[in-house]
Amino acid sequence: MAKHIILLMSLVALSFGFLASAFEPSPLQDFCVADPASSARLNGHVCKNPASVGANDFSFSGLHLPGNTSNPNGSRVTPVSVAQLPGLNTLGISMVRIDYAPWGINPPHTHPRATEILTVIEGSLEVGFVTSNPDNKFITKILQKGDVFVFPMGLVHFQRNVGTKNAVAIAGLSSQNPGVITIANAVFGSKPDVNADILAKAFQVDKSVVDQLQTKF
Ligand SMILES: *[C@@H]1O[C@H](CO)[C@@H](O)[C@H](O)[C@H]1NC(C)=O
Ligand SMILES: *[C@@H]1O[C@H](CO)[C@@H](O)[C@H](O)[C@H]1NC(C)=O
Repeated sequence: MAKHIILLMSLVALSFGFLASAFEPSPLQDFCVADPASSARLNGHVCKNPASVGANDFSFSGLHLPGNTSNPNGSRVTPVSVAQLPGLNTLGISMVRIDYAPWGINPPHTHPRATEILTVIEGSLEVGFVTSNPDNKFITKILQKGDVFVFPMGLVHFQRNVGTKNAVAIAGLSSQNPGVITIANAVFGSKPDVNADILAKAFQVDKSVVDQLQTKF
């Protein structure tokens, strides 16, 4: 009887442990290289047979190459997450290179699963994030080459090149698959559209303004 109670309590404690875990769990083996061929659905990817794993599974090439910034944002994110580097599976980490044309922006967005730590390799960037409700405090700074800035998990943030030359940043993210929600695209470019009356009320503007924004995204 007492044994059963202890077992039950351990199970409850264990499930609370899982609920309280806001980060990717610690790996239970050296690695679990993602097997893209598997059709099994689970949280992350199925492990490739360790016997057939090699150095290429842990490497990615090309991050020295500038991304193409000829787009309305004037920026380009080159991700190195589990989709590009299968060895990242279960390791809770990834990175990106971001290129910015002069005055280019990486528009306001959030990573639902990651904190981001960014360093400027070339140029200077204006960066910022906004804290949660109810404060919505705006934290912002101009970064120069070599400066490092952290965007806490889940918060809306952005970068802008404030120099006259191209800028480059490298960032690390605390997830193998950080995810991106670009605010403008998610709110005004969902498929199908969010009802324009709802957005008009939420943004306190005329419905025609929402209609215009919805045609752009
Ligand atoms: C960059 O992207 C633009 C717009 O998509 C395209 O026209 C151009 O050819 C690209 N440049 C390079 C070097 O790939
Ligand atoms: C700007 O960049 C974001 C994130 O990469 C992308 O989702 C969005 O489509 C881009 N917007 C435009 C107008 O190109």
